[in-house]
Amino acid sequence: MNTEQFLVKSQLKKVDTASFTWQTPSNIALVKYWGKSNPQIPKNASISFTLNNCHTITTVDFVRKQHSKLDSESQKVVAFNLFFEGKQKDEFKPKIADFFDRIQAYCPYIIEYEMTINSENSFPHSSGIASSASGLSAIAMCLMSLEKELSAELSTEFIHKKASFLARLGSGSASRSIEGPLVVWGKHPEIEGSSDLFGVQFPHKVHAVFENYQDVILLVDKGEKQVSSTVGHKLMHEHPYAENRFKQANENLGKMSKILQEGNTKDFINLVESEALTLHAMMMTSNPYFILMKPNTLEIINKIWEYRAAENSAICFTLDAGANVHVLFPEREKKKVNKFIKKELSGYCDNNQYIYDSVGFGAKRILK
Ligand code: DP6
Repeated sequence: MNTEQFLVKSQLKKVDTASFTWQTPSNIALVKYWGKSNPQIPKNASISFTLNNCHTITTVDFVRKQHSKLDSESQKVVAFNLFFEGKQKDEFKPKIADFFDRIQAYCPYIIEYEMTINSENSFPHSSGIASSASGLSAIAMCLMSLEKELSAELSTEFIHKKASFLARLGSGSASRSIEGPLVVWGKHPEIEGSSDLFGVQFPHKVHAVFENYQDVILLVDKGEKQVSSTVGHKLMHEHPYAENRFKQANENLGKMSKILQEGNTKDFINLVESEALTLHAMMMTSNPYFILMKPNTLEIINKIWEYRAAENSAICFTLDAGANVHVLFPEREKKKVNKFIKKELSGYCDNNQYIYDSVGFGAKRILK
């Protein structure tokens, strides 16, 4: 695999201080990534809608270490401080430290800096929405801004590609949070340019019905998940149905590509809901087995099915690795579906909380 392209080969400039701020989005997978091998290589290709409103804003301040410090052995560790919503968050540090370790070969310059990372999410803290995708993609974009300043011209295309490559090493789904509106991660014969190493924009023209698709996220359970995604992915190694699942997901991605181009919402609904339930079926058939859905997740799913049948609507649901429900529907149904959600579904949410979102276009630099 060609990781060589991401090594820094040119002589780097000396920059003493720098600061960059990026806003990067969360994403919701239509065909799911569940199962990986080392280092963060997916067992199947996945595709997601990039979101617009659920995002992380991260500033990284870089201060070059003094020369004496640079030479000493102890300075071979990556030095950083982490603040989340204004508060020092040492409990988040190990995941970020692992991330820095994995990317050091590709970003050798990070060792020369003391980094201060300040992060905040647009969605409520512990809403059960995974923040690793938006969180890690935001740090990756800040690093790429520094790399651009340190080295000769880097094209925007390369910056996006490498940022996605780096983000993937922190969290697989983060590789799909650099661009939008639809991103594929994982090598797939029908997606030109696709790779296990980074996400690529869906290369085909998408039917108008899927433009500005809506996603209302129903916050069913805001508590900490009992089983993390990392553990869930690992359980796929010994899983009796794993090989079939990986094959099915790749086939589904081929089908999804056609659906997105042709605009067949019936087939879209069928595939998206089947993917969501299959993901959770994999969890339930792991050993140890686990269930992340809650009773209200199922109540909501049944209500969505009833509404779809009664209103001849193109509404459907998907799930990520948790109890929350993503309600997907075309923009033309927005008014009616939003009323339905408020009246019929919000009662199943923790504190009646839900988030309006829609498809977005990826990372944005914020100039301060
Ligand atoms: C169910 O990307 O959170 O949301 O690579 O271990 O960080 P790590 O896992 P993560 O897994 C996400 C799984 C999923 C499906 C998906 O987003 O494709």
